[in-house]
Amino acid sequence: MTAVRPDVEQLTDPALYQSGDPFALYAALRRTHPVAWHGRGFWAVSTHPEVAAIGTDPETFCSERGILVDEIGSTYDSPPTMMHTDPPQHTRYRRLVQPGFKPSMVRLMEAGVTKKARVLIDRIDSGEPVDIVPALSIPFPLQVICELLGVDGEQWPRFYEWSEAVIPGESDNPPEVRARLQGEMWEYLIGVANARRVSPADDLVSVLATAHSRSEGGSQRGPGPEDAGPEDGQLSEAELAMFLIQLLVAGNETTRNLLSGGLAVLADHPKQWAALRADRALVPTAVEELLRWTTPVISFMRTATRPTTIGRQAIAEGDPVLLLYASANRDESVFGPDADRLRVDRNPNPQLSFGFGPHFCLGAALARLEARTVLNLLLDRFATLEPAGPVVRTPSPVIAGVRQARLVFTS
Ligand code: HEM
Repeated sequence: MTAVRPDVEQLTDPALYQSGDPFALYAALRRTHPVAWHGRGFWAVSTHPEVAAIGTDPETFCSERGILVDEIGSTYDSPPTMMHTDPPQHTRYRRLVQPGFKPSMVRLMEAGVTKKARVLIDRIDSGEPVDIVPALSIPFPLQVICELLGVDGEQWPRFYEWSEAVIPGESDNPPEVRARLQGEMWEYLIGVANARRVSPADDLVSVLATAHSRSEGGSQRGPGPEDAGPEDGQLSEAELAMFLIQLLVAGNETTRNLLSGGLAVLADHPKQWAALRADRALVPTAVEELLRWTTPVISFMRTATRPTTIGRQAIAEGDPVLLLYASANRDESVFGPDADRLRVDRNPNPQLSFGFGPHFCLGAALARLEARTVLNLLLDRFATLEPAGPVVRTPSPVIAGVRQARLVFTS
């Protein structure tokens, strides 16, 4: 008997994500059609071992032909982000930016991260409903990114508006307003970078603005000579803007939704909150479990560079392949029969929320630090956490966005 094919077309239906429950569809896909063809012209891959294997093989599954379903068929004169590059260009970019994310750099940020979180958490009133999205999840990661980039932390509301303008569907602004905001962001960030070229400081913008791409081991520059930076061999203006915009956007949408979605699910699981209050050693495993549970980046895409197979499915050269991280993170074959249960003590927890392979998230250590800090400060202050209304989700098939999460924290 042939299994009934799950409705794979639903994967691009915004309503599936707004309802917050794509998980029954993922489970059906994993069971019967782990590599399923979607009518918009891509393979959807839903199982953990296959998603991880594709992520580690950029020669067979490249990123330069787009990482989102909406990008199928696009080509770029210069890569819009480093996520859209493959080795050796990607390796060169990665070497340039990695020093800014070294564990020692992240450790240096710990005091500042704690201070920012404490100010926001101190404003939460015990026993009163609070929408955690504007109260904490939006401002906190933006303020941290400002510090990382070495720009004035008071700027965060502008950064918020700019970053929302980059992501289609995140704001109600018409295209011309989004274009204007993106132009403003570009000018601001390039202005900061040019200032750091003249007088470098101890921040990531300075690392990038003064980095010499050729001496880092690559022979080719990204964009053409008309984009050249002030000194031969330095990152071009287009490359600098690409890095800075990506850091600004990648670092806040994701962490924001980890915090909102993570606290909302803990509110639904009071015993798990109590377990954390009883044993703080569980906070790091809880962060991994909340990453697994919320999977802030639902999926990213690759394109096959040659004929290949995934499982038993033949894949043609040029076929796009969607890596469903959110499904891989619930794969029973890896997480066991309780894959659908939230367990703050889950260990091991090979969640794929930061991707896998050469593009593994550069900001993972920072995001983990932010989540641990928030959890610890909230656990210090509040004995219980309860929901105060339904969670309102965004309709995005890419980012597991939470628009509103009203919660009650009680001392
Ligand atoms: C919970 C928070 C976060 C999640 C879930 C997340 C998720 C991801 C994922 C899935 C990728 C892989 C892209 C791919 O395979 O094509 C990635 C890459 C990346 N992330 Fe994150 N991210 C988070 C936080 C951050 C932060 C805080 C920063 C920076 C401040 C950051 C910067 C980056 C960068 C630069 C890349 C590109 C790496 C590359 O292409 O080599 N992310 N992230």
